Amino acid sequence: MSKEHAIAVLAGDGIGPEVVRQGLRILERVAAIDGFRVRATSYPLGAEHYLKTKEIFPDAAFREVKDQDAILLGAIGDPRIEVGLLEFGIIAKLRFELDLFVNLRPVKLYAEHLCPLKNKTPEDVDFLVVRENTEDAYAGMRGFFKKGTPDEVATQEIIFTRKGVERVIRYAFDLARRRGRTKKLTLVDKANAVRAMDLWTRTFEEVGREYPDITRDHAYIDAACMWCVKNPEWFDTVVTSNMFGDILTDLAAMIQGGLGIAASGNIHPGRVSLFEPIHGSAPKYAGQNVASPLATVMAVAMMLEYLGETRAAARIEETVAGLLRSKRIPSLGSDSGLSTTQIGDLVLESLERAKVPA
Ligand SMILES: NC(=O)c1ccc[n+]([C@@H]2O[C@H](COP(=O)([O-])OP(=O)(O)OC[C@H]3O[C@@H](n4cnc5c(N)ncnc54)[C@H](O)[C@@H]3O)[C@@H](O)[C@H]2O)c1
Repeated sequence: MSKEHAIAVLAGDGIGPEVVRQGLRILERVAAIDGFRVRATSYPLGAEHYLKTKEIFPDAAFREVKDQDAILLGAIGDPRIEVGLLEFGIIAKLRFELDLFVNLRPVKLYAEHLCPLKNKTPEDVDFLVVRENTEDAYAGMRGFFKKGTPDEVATQEIIFTRKGVERVIRYAFDLARRRGRTKKLTLVDKANAVRAMDLWTRTFEEVGREYPDITRDHAYIDAACMWCVKNPEWFDTVVTSNMFGDILTDLAAMIQGGLGIAASGNIHPGRVSLFEPIHGSAPKYAGQNVASPLATVMAVAMMLEYLGETRAAARIEETVAGLLRSKRIPSLGSDSGLSTTQIGDLVLESLERAKVPA
């Protein structure tokens, strides 16, 4: 009997449902080709649900989602709703309450013409960013005093715990070792100015001693942004804090071709984890069938890799890479000349022919 994977699907807002529809078509097809089953359950949460019911994420739905093997998320956010309300109530709730402490972001260029940098090839842009996903300023310890007056004080605490820092650093060392590319791990921080990051420096050194085969490297976040543009080939695996990772990975998305291809995993190893395109709901393109579904397709590939379906994951990646290299999908923006559905069709048609290890 083939294996079955239970997937919670939160398509969300804006372009979310359109791109997730394509992701699910591809998921079903690779399951048929590679011999596993998928039980997908959709949760129609997001702006429409909130406007109708005033519910953001009902407890019963949360309990169900928690019991699945993985979660596929489209995008959350709608201009009709107060900024951050749904994003915090749905995405942040999942990240914090499921303790998804790793945000894994592959930065991989599949075809040279998609890179805005001069003379950079797919060999040059191929690294992994491991972003801490549960602490930092995002822990929500904030407040306003004398709000709306000339004397207003606004504060938000940056939180790092030894446990939180150590587990994500350890994950990154393991990943650099498994990846086996150049076996280098770069710590990106701002310990010269944010002195609390000394905890990162010390933990990185201490944990790093257990990984003598991995070269330890370091860059301050400002310099890391510069290297990301000037010499992306210097990076193999990168570990960083929540806020710096948030910023660095959007910059990194641009050198791999844009938000139309960039995917991420929100992971707690061994537990239910969440996979999503890194883009948001792009409200201006909602309902127009013009958004690139490839970031979601790559999120599906990451999810399958996590679930142990490595052949199916490789099949999706190889198919997308081939379509981009051949320019059958010429670009990753809304101006590709192909609709969201047509891009899905192209991927679907090509899956069977992908060269993947037996
Ligand atoms: N994880 C998430 O669900 C998530 C992430 C980021 C932003 N958001 C939310 O999404 C809403 C819109 O945010 P934003 O405009 O800052 O970011 P966005 O990522 O939605 O869009 C930024 C721009 O990128 C382009 N783009 C994004 N995805 C694309 C795709 N698949 N194909 C083609 N072009 C694409 C569009 O030009 C778009 O205007 C906000 O409510 C925000 O809070 C949600």
